Amino acid sequence: MCGIFGYIGPHQAAPLLVEGLRRLEYRGYDSTGIAVKNGAVTIHKKVGKVQELRTILPASIKGQIGIAHTRWATHGGVTDENAHPHASSEGKVVIVHNGIIENARLLRTSLEVQGVELQSETDSEALAHIIERELSIDNNPEEAVRRTLRQARGTWGICVLFTDHDTIVCARNGSPLIIGQGVEEMFISSDPHALTAHTQQVIYLEDGDIATLTATSVKLSTLTGGASDTKSSVLENNWGEAELGDFPHYMLKEIYEQPDAIRHCISGRLDRAGGSGRLGGLKLTPATLAKIPHVRLLGCGTSYNAADIGGLLIEKLARIPAVAQISSEFRHNDPVINPSALHFAVTQSGETADTISAIKEIQLKGGNVHGVVNVVGSTIARLCGRGVYIHSGPEQAVASTKAFSNMVTALTMFALQVGRSRNITKEKGIELIHGLQQIPHLLEEYLESQGPIQEAVELVKDAKSVLFLGRGISAPVAQEGALKLMEIAYIPCLAYPAGEMKHGPIALLEEGSPVIFIAPNDHVKTKTVSAIHECRARGAKIILIHEEGDDIAQEGDVCISVPKVHNLLSPLLTVVPLQLIAYHTALALGCDVDRPRNLAKSVTVE
Ligand code: AGP
Repeated sequence: MCGIFGYIGPHQAAPLLVEGLRRLEYRGYDSTGIAVKNGAVTIHKKVGKVQELRTILPASIKGQIGIAHTRWATHGGVTDENAHPHASSEGKVVIVHNGIIENARLLRTSLEVQGVELQSETDSEALAHIIERELSIDNNPEEAVRRTLRQARGTWGICVLFTDHDTIVCARNGSPLIIGQGVEEMFISSDPHALTAHTQQVIYLEDGDIATLTATSVKLSTLTGGASDTKSSVLENNWGEAELGDFPHYMLKEIYEQPDAIRHCISGRLDRAGGSGRLGGLKLTPATLAKIPHVRLLGCGTSYNAADIGGLLIEKLARIPAVAQISSEFRHNDPVINPSALHFAVTQSGETADTISAIKEIQLKGGNVHGVVNVVGSTIARLCGRGVYIHSGPEQAVASTKAFSNMVTALTMFALQVGRSRNITKEKGIELIHGLQQIPHLLEEYLESQGPIQEAVELVKDAKSVLFLGRGISAPVAQEGALKLMEIAYIPCLAYPAGEMKHGPIALLEEGSPVIFIAPNDHVKTKTVSAIHECRARGAKIILIHEEGDDIAQEGDVCISVPKVHNLLSPLLTVVPLQLIAYHTALALGCDVDRPRNLAKSVTVE
């Protein structure tokens, strides 16, 4: 989603703002801009990336107070005029905004009726004009923002500059905003990642909070005018370098980080002697685990695919009904919630609006939700109040890879923990733990010898569409492989349970159609071979992801083998060739691997 960065303190703001935007740009954007106050406020903004913005910035911009923004268009096209920051008609107020103002049309119309000439198509600009109008009443920045937001409906994370006041007023409702408290300086960001270089002392604003900043003070209040009880906290350091290092792209770096990411995820969380998982953050006693009637897992995109695998593992190991559901569908289907059931919200960013809404629906109906989250201190982590941090380290490529692997790993450990409290023997538990402990090394082994990835790329890169097929625990892996190839190479893909392909999608096949099969050596492999034959009989080219040494290799045109591993852990290996096929296909097609078109790293709007 959009990114916000702000500064007020003794240093020149412009360089800090540009660096803040650079650290935010992985989140997805289509335009960027900064505003710096030095008496009056000057604005520089442009369509494109941060480096395009740099080309229009003067060599030196004086001013120690500023705000900045990377935009992912929701209202209005991708144009310089629609880029943030936005100024009010007399230039006394300048704003950056994340979120959607749902009654923007009404606000814009009332402004036009009052003779205000709107400069952009955005909902955000309307807020700037209204704040300026409210400011003329009592010249009180905080009150002007409060009265304005009371007229708005929707979501916001906003920062506001004032030409006549050395202050920044921020407000949050549904779109994350964090204050970083330095020594006689303050920072603001929509993402903790952009603050770690400056301070560890932070205040995560909550919905309804308003913060009035000077270089040395933060005054917290609420939209209703009362005091806010939001407290400051310490930003936990994520392991892992956020910089690109020697890699050409973040996505490739994060694919190669998966072995270490999994090591961090399992560290201290396996009871080797007892053959169980040990996820303390869930705060679930064995007595509670033994009584769970069912489990629901919620997520979007890759996180939904990981949740899908988690649900299969939980049902397999714990023998309780478990189902993954897409967050954006869940809330609108008026779900029946059993307060005794276990609910998981699976998310890398912890800011996905669809998943936040699903959590609130469950909590509204008496249910508890446990987070399976990567970003420490994120909205979903705080909303759930309990859960598991997956410890992937900063994931910056829009296409998720190491977070997927760690979500699956965390859910595997939970499935083992609840299974051991119900019916799995210690021996079975120890066997699974041994398998988990082998994964990082086996992944490193595979990454050193990846197989005919380029041959697979040649088959898919010019295809009209690509079919991904898998059965059982490999069906969600097929979903994940299809999502990767779609989102970074823009190739239409379809993922289907292999058994279902003959009930329709097989009609898509013609001579040379590429079909990617995920077929580890498990109990459904034989059935998968039948599906391979059905596709081949219609001229398909078969790309086969299979276990090393398995004679199924004779069934593929391009065969990519992965090391042998415990059957229930195969997704952690079989997904990696799919990530690499997507990555190299995107490169072959000249796509922007880390910042694919139309996408954002964290979708904070519904
Ligand atoms: C994954 O590659 C995509 N970028 C996207 O589907 C993502 O998984 C989804 O938006 C959910 O994000 P979250 O994990 O931060 O909630």
